[in-house]
Amino acid sequence: SRASEFVVVANRLPVDRVVGEDGEPSWRRSPGGLVSAIAPLMRRRHGTWIGWAGAPDERLEPFEEDGMSLVPVHQSAEDIRLYYEGFSNATLWPLYHDVVAPPVYDRTMWDAYVRVNERFAEVTAKVAAKDAVVWIQDYQLQLVPALLRRLRPDLRIGFFLHIPFPPLELFWQMPWRRQILEGLLGADLVGFQLPGAAQNFVRLCRRLLDARTFKQDVFWEGRTVRARAFPISVDADELGGLIADPDVRRRAAEIREDFGDAKLLLGVDRLDYTKGITQRLDAFGELFRDGELRPGEAAFIQIATPSRERVEQYQLLRDQIEQQVGHINGEHGELGTTVVHYLHTSYDRAELAALFLAADVMVVTPLRDGMNLVAKEYVACREDLGGALVLSEFAGAAAELKRAYQVNPYDIDGLKKALLDALRDDPAEQSRRMRAMRRRVLEHDVDRWARDFLAALEEPTPTTAIAR
Ligand code: G6P
Repeated sequence: SRASEFVVVANRLPVDRVVGEDGEPSWRRSPGGLVSAIAPLMRRRHGTWIGWAGAPDERLEPFEEDGMSLVPVHQSAEDIRLYYEGFSNATLWPLYHDVVAPPVYDRTMWDAYVRVNERFAEVTAKVAAKDAVVWIQDYQLQLVPALLRRLRPDLRIGFFLHIPFPPLELFWQMPWRRQILEGLLGADLVGFQLPGAAQNFVRLCRRLLDARTFKQDVFWEGRTVRARAFPISVDADELGGLIADPDVRRRAAEIREDFGDAKLLLGVDRLDYTKGITQRLDAFGELFRDGELRPGEAAFIQIATPSRERVEQYQLLRDQIEQQVGHINGEHGELGTTVVHYLHTSYDRAELAALFLAADVMVVTPLRDGMNLVAKEYVACREDLGGALVLSEFAGAAAELKRAYQVNPYDIDGLKKALLDALRDDPAEQSRRMRAMRRRVLEHDVDRWARDFLAALEEPTPTTAIAR
């Protein structure tokens, strides 16, 4: 196949290979915010996407899909256990999300992380054209920038971290902290969701590697590495198309009708302990206990997309949530009236858009989140200026969505008050809030994010390295 001028490297391809009960393989859209953000840009640029197809041990040839060239990277069952479920999701994920669960530090997992990052770098080195632009994504691949630069010094290398980057005091725990920073410093531009994350990174380079820094630039091995914030966003065109679709509108009306006069609260998350699902359900349940809400007056739909199901913390969370939902419904439901509707499944985009249109209150309460695209998707869908957003202060999106009902999800009383305000404030106030949030999201959509990042990446960096 032809060498490519524009290459995206991510742990996952935009499609996931699933083998059905009949043994027949098929493809479906991959989970998570990363894929929804990058796919539109890739289709336009007709780039090459290097990543894992989501199934163990499959050796697949490169193929074309939806206007993109996809290059699958093989991972054995053991790689998945140690690199993906292990170092990526039992070590880095909790550490980077404020240690809301205890990170596992395991040397075998680290070795697998190095090995798989090497494999990604090798595949990329083969696929990229001379002087190509390569954009590496997220925490699973933090060593790839430096590994790739060693193999291909001609490339322009960008890296974007979709999740938070922790403060020095937490990152310091990492036994392989030096290797990770050096891995990232292989890039010309390291992008983060928020300015604070870029500052954390620069401060760490200074304190841990003794690197010279100036503002948000790090001088490393004769190069200037820039650290910058680029808040990611949603595909406004795609969502605009969905909410204009008569089928989606019909479906939204149908959902509304099913719930009669009840106000609808909605949560849509991967089933992940960073998302604050138990906190929001606690708050909702207590509103019935306190007599603030009566069954039939409000119902909560919680969609929890299955995720990382073989990682222990995810299994524990699933059990906990299922118990909690059973408890709340047992205490507060009535015959024919369930108060929490819990769906452990993934939904297609049209069904999600219909749910966004039907929901009176969107509840997004992560304990820590890099950005949270669901919050922005809800806002982008509410062209009617209806609905209210309850949003955690600990989501990256809170920096932009100032007119949301912002909450500290650890504060259950605060959370209850925010839910009630969002349910009861007058419609004029609601639409003022929604209008302000929409202005922000529609002006700063994912297109702008990608353009800003790539413009910064392609901008020449000063050649005069500042000597130490
Ligand atoms: C988050 C991460 C992505 C990840 C996605 C889904 O959005 O930032 O890198 O792909 O979650 O998680 P999974 O483990 O299924 O890829």
